[in-house]
Amino acid sequence: MSHGNTQRRTYPRNGWEWYFANYRPLYPESVIDRLARIVGRPCGRVVDIGCGTGQLSIPLARRGFRVVGVDRWRGLILEAERLAGQMVTDVLERPTFVVGVAEALADVLDGPADAVIFSKSFHWTKRDAALDAAKAILSPSGPVIVINSKMRQDEWMRVAMAVAREFTPPSRPFTVDPDQIPESAASLLRKMGSRRVVERCLCNMVASLTIDEVVRYWLAMPDCSMDRLGVRADTFIDRLRDTLLRVNKDGVFDVHESLEILSVRVGYESDTKGGAP
Ligand SMILES: C[S@@+](CC[C@H](N)C(=O)[O-])C[C@H]1O[C@@H](n2cnc3c(N)ncnc32)[C@H](O)[C@@H]1O
Repeated sequence: MSHGNTQRRTYPRNGWEWYFANYRPLYPESVIDRLARIVGRPCGRVVDIGCGTGQLSIPLARRGFRVVGVDRWRGLILEAERLAGQMVTDVLERPTFVVGVAEALADVLDGPADAVIFSKSFHWTKRDAALDAAKAILSPSGPVIVINSKMRQDEWMRVAMAVAREFTPPSRPFTVDPDQIPESAASLLRKMGSRRVVERCLCNMVASLTIDEVVRYWLAMPDCSMDRLGVRADTFIDRLRDTLLRVNKDGVFDVHESLEILSVRVGYESDTKGGAP
């Protein structure tokens, strides 16, 4: 449980990937339970696409799944390897990580996968190509799982975003709202398997962050990195803190996140004649 310690801490001049690894939370056990049920056992290899620094790969591996994380960003993969080395003591159980893109998985993975998961990454990919690539490596009736996240845009988040925009105009949106993409992830997944086997579940989560955790969360974004901020980093941090404290004097900020977990079993044909549920 966080507490509202509003004293300024120091913020190392590290890259955003370091902040991403250290301050972006791992998935909670309740979500891993759900994923474990969808993936099922026995299961060979689970591929975590857009793995970042292993937020999902690491807890899945600790559950005994053999996980390969794929991400296009080398700096994140290096941090993922470092974090997994710290958090998964048994070398044989450690997830492995590889630099690669969702749209060309076969270029970086040898052998098939028994499950493919897009962990908060599907909306950043070229989705049709990414699904084709996933299908090409999946073993028969293996699940494709898409995890989408939606955060409630509370006032503190809006003002923090405005400060960040002022200091480092984003080269792309800070977030992409999966609901704003014309064809939904669910409808794309339906095209892969039969309609009846697309399953959807929601997990609602609330986390309380201290003001320092909020600042570090912002420094974990490429557009707000220490590198981009350069000599203005301290001014940015002070402005962000002052602005946040004006919204919420106690220095505790709640994050309301809703996770949508969609899954489909590719090649599962049992109800193709049965029509929609
Ligand atoms: C929002 S982060 C999610 C990180 C982590 N999976 C999580 O759930 O917290 C999205 C990740 O997708 C990666 N990514 C975006 N497009 C990609 C692509 N086409 N192929 C592989 N990775 C991609 C980004 O580099 C980033 O690490």
